[in-house]
Amino acid sequence: MSETPDRNLAFDLAHVTETAAMAAARWQGRGDKEGVDQAAVDAMRAILASVDIDGVVVIGEGEKDEAPMLYNGERVGNGNGPEVDIAVDPIDGTTLSAQGMPGALAVIAMAERGSMYSPGSVVYMDKIAVGPSAAGKIDLDAPVEDNLHVVADARGKDINDLTAIILDRPRNEKYIDAVRRVGGRIRLIRDGDISGAISAADEATGIDILLGVGGSPEAVIAAAALTCMGGEIQARLWPRDDSERQYALENGLDLDTVLTQKDLVRSNNVFFAATGVTTGEFLQGVEFFGDGARTHSVVMRSKTGSVRSMHARHDFTRLRKISALVYD
Ligand code: FBP
Repeated sequence: MSETPDRNLAFDLAHVTETAAMAAARWQGRGDKEGVDQAAVDAMRAILASVDIDGVVVIGEGEKDEAPMLYNGERVGNGNGPEVDIAVDPIDGTTLSAQGMPGALAVIAMAERGSMYSPGSVVYMDKIAVGPSAAGKIDLDAPVEDNLHVVADARGKDINDLTAIILDRPRNEKYIDAVRRVGGRIRLIRDGDISGAISAADEATGIDILLGVGGSPEAVIAAAALTCMGGEIQARLWPRDDSERQYALENGLDLDTVLTQKDLVRSNNVFFAATGVTTGEFLQGVEFFGDGARTHSVVMRSKTGSVRSMHARHDFTRLRKISALVYD
């Protein structure tokens, strides 16, 4: 009770994601996925170097896409602060940005050193995520229909009022079929299941549950966000082939067990920030004007449960005077 209020490092993370989102947004619609990612990575790296942390990237982008990553094991921060794990997805939805489609975010999460799960090279996980009212009631091992009924009850909705958000992939057809069978509604997304998980946990979006197989790094990052929001995600590694199965065996990764939120991020001292690149379910995209830009971010901290929606106006003329970054 008498603890001195400590610094909310999520604000520093918001500075990181704002800058990455603005850099990536300049590439919107150019059809160049790598350009989007590189712009975001460069901006993130530059701002992270000024943050008072001794950070190690444990979840970096690139394992699946060979993207220009903030790679696993990379040291970030200025070294003058707490020892932390960093999970980063410079842009969740690089294709969305490159095509100017909705829902791309710049994202970063942070927690105590050693607290984040490392999926190694098993790039996909099967996931279920919900908001606070259904937290503690879902079970990835249960039939999909049962989870849908549980969530509908928890939300005080009829099953046909329920909306499930699902990555539009052939591997997720069983989920799509199950939702249709019970008469629920579906929001199919082209990409971006971190945003999908947050949308399911943010009861203001009208989305009730995330279902389906998506990226493993994205599951860990979503777990960080949902720890702050009081929602719940469960996941299980989903190997694509025998070589991933073999890799898991050799590296002690359990393919059968359901990973709980605490398995994914074993901490209640979690910080999270995301900034919209293109407008999506809960964040507006970057808007440029004259010599500046407006951004919209969500900034969260698990210890206090604070979830802030933060609009910012950035003046590029002034920023250029104090920063080596290219603001254009
Ligand atoms: P990136 O933009 O970081 O590549 O991720 C987009 C994404 O849609 C994630 O949100 C999702 O978890 C993953 O890709 C799904 O992978 P795939 O596109 O290979 O099905």
